[in-house]
Amino acid sequence: MQHLDKRLSVIAGLFTPGGRGIDVGTDHGYLAVALVQGGKAQSMLATDVNPGPLQSARNCIAENGLTDRIDTRLADGLEGLPLSGFTDIIIAGMGGQLISSILSQRVGELAGKNLLLQPMTQAPALRQWLCENGFSILLERCAVAAGKAYTVIQARFTGEKTDCSPLFALVGRTPEDGGEDAGVYLQTLLSREQKRLKGLKAAASPDEAEIRQSEELVAGLKEILARREKEKGASV
Ligand SMILES: C[S@@+](CC[C@H](N)C(=O)[O-])C[C@H]1O[C@@H](n2cnc3c(N)ncnc32)[C@H](O)[C@@H]1O
Repeated sequence: MQHLDKRLSVIAGLFTPGGRGIDVGTDHGYLAVALVQGGKAQSMLATDVNPGPLQSARNCIAENGLTDRIDTRLADGLEGLPLSGFTDIIIAGMGGQLISSILSQRVGELAGKNLLLQPMTQAPALRQWLCENGFSILLERCAVAAGKAYTVIQARFTGEKTDCSPLFALVGRTPEDGGEDAGVYLQTLLSREQKRLKGLKAAASPDEAEIRQSEELVAGLKEILARREKEKGASV
């Protein structure tokens, strides 16, 4: 059985049971293989823009005897891919801006699909783009793998634009994830924002508006973390 680390396991857990998925930027192909092997996906299309990673995926698929269930394609994002008939689209392990630029290639054709997005960086930019471009963030699940905290965003295209406050852009729906890994994710965000605030205050000519916004984010994060602690205490 193909092993998945916690980050990839969380994505697999949000996949539509019995669905057909596209794994954009598959690299090693582990996720596509595990989804089919584990019976979660009926079939997969694994793609990559680079021939080397795509070859690794092809090797992994062949070694696991799954060439009849997992197709592969050299493609830049969603460009030229057949989207109809696919229930799920996974775009994981890339920067948030790259993920949004891939989604923007085919926005109109994404309605009804389960979108599983896992930004390695720039998650706030991705959440903001989703809100501004008619996508609804249904939920987020966090995972700590190799000492780093990640979020997996489950989204759907609705066509309705929504407001995205700076705090929502920063945390998204991770506060609704009651797991320990979400606590680590939120604590990491707080430490990073506190460090940024310190830098803003120490600047030669401090930007007062930016300082105020950063202070609000720090306060918002502290409040979220305090609420989690209180809820944890109440449930013991
Ligand atoms: C860090 S790996 C992530 C692999 C896997 N999705 C994961 O989450 O473990 C990023 C992969 O995305 C591929 N990639 C980058 N830009 C892409 C694009 N525009 N379209 C398809 N694949 C892309 C890279 O070649 C690389 O194999």
